[in-house]
Amino acid sequence: MARILPVSSFDCVVFGATGDLTMRKLLPALYHRWRDRQFPASSRIIGAARSSLDDDGFRAHAEAALRRFVPAESLEPAILAEFLGLMHYRRVEALGEEGWDGLVSLLAERPEQVRQFYLATSPELYGPICQRLAQHGGLHQKSRVVLEKPIGHDLASAREINRAVGKVLPEAQIFRIDHYLGKETVQNLLALRFANPIFERLWHADMIDHVQITVAEEVGIGGRGGYYDKAGALRDMVQNHMLQLLCLLAMESPISLDPDAVRDEKVKVLRALRPIPAHEAHLSTVRGQYIAGAVGGQPVPGYRSDLGSDAPSLTESFVALKLHVNSWRWAGVPFYLRTGKRLPRKVSEIIIEFRTPPFSIFPREAVGMQPNRLMIRLQPEEGMRLEMMTKEPGPGGLHLRPTALDISFEKTFGQRYPDAYERLLMDVVRGNTTLFMRRDEVETAWNWIEPILQGWADRPEAPRPYAAGSWGPTAAIAMIERDGRTWYESLE
Ligand code: BG6
Repeated sequence: MARILPVSSFDCVVFGATGDLTMRKLLPALYHRWRDRQFPASSRIIGAARSSLDDDGFRAHAEAALRRFVPAESLEPAILAEFLGLMHYRRVEALGEEGWDGLVSLLAERPEQVRQFYLATSPELYGPICQRLAQHGGLHQKSRVVLEKPIGHDLASAREINRAVGKVLPEAQIFRIDHYLGKETVQNLLALRFANPIFERLWHADMIDHVQITVAEEVGIGGRGGYYDKAGALRDMVQNHMLQLLCLLAMESPISLDPDAVRDEKVKVLRALRPIPAHEAHLSTVRGQYIAGAVGGQPVPGYRSDLGSDAPSLTESFVALKLHVNSWRWAGVPFYLRTGKRLPRKVSEIIIEFRTPPFSIFPREAVGMQPNRLMIRLQPEEGMRLEMMTKEPGPGGLHLRPTALDISFEKTFGQRYPDAYERLLMDVVRGNTTLFMRRDEVETAWNWIEPILQGWADRPEAPRPYAAGSWGPTAAIAMIERDGRTWYESLE
């Protein structure tokens, strides 16, 4: 059974307190941690936003959100009432001077507490908020600031944010969150790779033919069109989540689990990514945008209707790309990444496809030999599956068939998987930055992404349409098939 390691008392100030992320993810995550008694009752959750609310008004919003986003069986009335009692609200003007003194004097009532400032706002506000916190005396040695992704929209804006935040806080107090790193199955990649030497021996270009990473979503852009249309799938998913998955898969063994030891190895992978120059971006990437179709048997509108605009948009809701890591371990091994909205189902998985036998001793009629594959399912139905060839039992000749060693984490561990934010919010209180992105990681990732964005801007073609409920544009299939490979079939 998992153990709950209590954290010290804290004040968690959430900027953007009335927004979607706070209501859908942060408050439910804190509720679960409270329910497990992971933090003391002297902790406070302080909402900060522009809306004119008082403590009770904020609590009413929070209660409605918790009733919606926490499963009914976990919502115990007495615990909910206690949790709401931890909440406060202060109106602050992120770009003005209003409200800051009130917020800081509330914090000053408990000077000993860890202060967690969670910036669930648009990234343009990260610098100004940190600056005001410093000016008004809201920061102390036990203060930590949490920055939600995206950190900027390109390298220059990311650097500017990092510079502005770095002016008021040292790196050890800055937590750039990528919630994928808080997922249990993503952390399990470290266990898989570095607690199982049998895999480490195979984790090499000598044995691996190629790697696929798929992060598919059923949902469309929902009510987030304003943000999403400026971002697109490359900025929203690849620059952060997918490159982080790639880092964990491709990195060398860190010397320990210390934050910098892990992050040093991850950043080496990012630095080793073979650049995709702007003029070649169209060769290694495919952009798509969904049109009306059906997901899960339900008709759904296209991207532009979701956006509420008839004007054409060049923003991609799907991207597939092929990349290489320039290192001895990975020389010649392509990594194929794809992610998109309005795909047939929500699934995140990694496929490691091993090389085929150099020579087959089996007769042709023994059936098509399939390469060994390791499939790591990150969500849902978390687990792992190792596919291998076996002899079909019975007489009548030697017939081979692919079978699988299957591990279901749900069956093995049989417990609720905590949401990524639960783990990460408690890590912030502990001051553990291992699962957060360091400044150079974010900037190196942008540095690699930027020529692709440039290449797309130089050839402003419309993204290829794909019907909602399909696996993206056919060009994405053609991209991998040109190399004599195919997207993993269990998805179909
Ligand atoms: C967010 C993206 O970071 O991750 C969203 O901004 C996306 O567009 C979400 O839907 C996916 O996260 P998860 O945990 O549902 O896979």
